[in-house]
Amino acid sequence: MYEKSIELLNQAVGDELSAVHQYMYCHFQCDDQGYDLLAGLFKKTAIEEMMHIEKIADRILFLKGDVELKASQDVNKIHNVKDMLELVSGMEQQSIKDYNNWALACASHADSATRKLFESLVEDEERHYGQFANELENLQKYGEHYLALQSIERSKNTFMQSGTTK
Ligand SMILES: [Fe+2]
Ligand SMILES: [Fe+2]
Repeated sequence: MYEKSIELLNQAVGDELSAVHQYMYCHFQCDDQGYDLLAGLFKKTAIEEMMHIEKIADRILFLKGDVELKASQDVNKIHNVKDMLELVSGMEQQSIKDYNNWALACASHADSATRKLFESLVEDEERHYGQFANELENLQKYGEHYLALQSIERSKNTFMQSGTTK
């Protein structure tokens, strides 16, 4: 009875794992390029996706299934911030679509707890999408100034921490 749920939940684990890898890759790149705000946002989102894996895995084990920890996609090795934001916005949109459909699929075979889990994930992914769409909009609106501001912010913080302001 719960086989379909376990299959969908494991598909979700694979997608979430790919998201963790992609977000950490973007975090490393932004950190290296000095864009602290985005580096922080990517890291925070990676941690949230990891917590999604934990929730999904709990449900799989409760249904007496096993957790397949296989990433569904390889990391896309992009370095350009606009490309990153476009890619992850698309990833979040896909998750929103999938989880909505999978919630309906679980409702159709009378597994309301898994349906609720997928619905709660939709809420988080919508928030993620909103955050990245917002950053993309800022980048489009302010162009290079948007990135320059983040670099200046890092220099300012480094300067303040160095104690030379005394
Ligand atoms: Fe997620
Ligand atoms: Fe997400």
